[in-house]
Amino acid sequence: MKEKRSEGAKEKKTALWAGRFTEATQPLVQNYTRSIHFDKRLAPFDIKGSQAHVRMLNRQGILSDEDAGAILKGLGQIQAEIESGEFPFRDELEDIHMNIEFRLKELIGEPGGKLHTGRSRNDQVATDLRLYCRHVADCWKSVLRQLVEVLVTRAEEHRLDLFPAWTHLQAAQPLSWAQYFLAFAEMAGRDSERLDSLLQRHSVSPLGAGALSGSSIPLDPDYTAAELGFSEAFWNSYDVVGDRDMVLELAQAGTQIMLHFSRLAEDFIYLSSTPVAWLELPDSLCTGSSMMPQKKNPDVLELMRGKTASVVGHLNALLVLVKGLPSSYHRDLQQDKEHLFPIVDIVSDSLEILVVLLAQAKVRVDRAHRALESDFLMATELAEWLVKQGLPFRTAHEKVGALVAFCVARQIGLKDLTAEMMAEVIPEVGFEGSQVFDPGIVLEGRTHRGSTGLEPIEQQLRKWKRWLAE
Ligand code: ARG
Repeated sequence: MKEKRSEGAKEKKTALWAGRFTEATQPLVQNYTRSIHFDKRLAPFDIKGSQAHVRMLNRQGILSDEDAGAILKGLGQIQAEIESGEFPFRDELEDIHMNIEFRLKELIGEPGGKLHTGRSRNDQVATDLRLYCRHVADCWKSVLRQLVEVLVTRAEEHRLDLFPAWTHLQAAQPLSWAQYFLAFAEMAGRDSERLDSLLQRHSVSPLGAGALSGSSIPLDPDYTAAELGFSEAFWNSYDVVGDRDMVLELAQAGTQIMLHFSRLAEDFIYLSSTPVAWLELPDSLCTGSSMMPQKKNPDVLELMRGKTASVVGHLNALLVLVKGLPSSYHRDLQQDKEHLFPIVDIVSDSLEILVVLLAQAKVRVDRAHRALESDFLMATELAEWLVKQGLPFRTAHEKVGALVAFCVARQIGLKDLTAEMMAEVIPEVGFEGSQVFDPGIVLEGRTHRGSTGLEPIEQQLRKWKRWLAE
């Protein structure tokens, strides 16, 4: 295999930059430097960028109407070839930019050689990448919106249902399922906001920056910026050819999305686990065991956790790629795509699955309600009730703690306590007719915004419906 590769040094020169070379590139080098196998996904954005560039050159009187027309027609044909899968991608042409330009010359001849006037692959790839990142951010925003929609529906459905929520994974207090679902709406909302913010910050077109210093050809970068839907053109050519902030920020935003939903995945694995089972996952999102016939495993959720590790790894690679890199463009930057694309795929696939998962997971209301009776979930409620009867909170905390110890010693729950037992530990107040051990009071007794009470949940639902309507 190896010997065969090095023979190619005598092959014909195909690279569009090969003018100053007296030998063809070693196939080993071609193989090492090529990016076409991954950057082909930039094709639609590369074509868009080229179309805008050609229109600008024509408008500036740099390209004749005939040449511009021929190039635009050729680009249209290339687009059709790529869409139909007939485009002849060639490894020896390095990357998507060279592949498209080479094909253009094949299709339309000499005018094809004018497309790259006043342009470098450095501003070209920076433009393609920004268009790509903008597209991805828009897609993620729309799925996050769907997610919030599903979360709001689930929250409305379960606003009266409680489960024993945890801190430290130890039973803590009753919480409404609505509050649980809406917590993830908050996270999705922040994720969406992060995307808005990066879209706004990076609405800058690099096209016209050339290799690093702009061009002596009288380009109009503002025109191409407007054509491509950017708010403005670059202010500094040297900065913009080496700027990968948007790539990094998108990768960070994607990682943040995965961090949020890997926690939901972990929650759902726990909530649907055999001993807990307050949640039932849809069969269609679970897998079985090759040996144990009874098994229904949450592999999808486990992989969501697992794939989050890959996303974190790729983000880390991107950060290290840019660290210490000299300013301006360097070929190292080609690798940004090898880390960005897998992040995009994992985040997009995960979001898509989450919409289905959240819509179809069944809350096992009765099982969760039954579980509310154990584990002293109402202890804090009792302490706060004692505060309302006039005890200082620290005293109330201490007294309820003693009551819990009393119950633990007798292996009973709070609601099994008789009036005499209560009086023995807390003689200061009478418990006659008190509802303090009924978990339902959590819903009525909380009125401040953001809490798990009925009205605060209604407020949250109204907030998210306004958000969705925007
Ligand atoms: N494939 C390259 C990349 O993705 C395109 C830019 C190449 N520029 C250069 N000066 N060699 O970064």
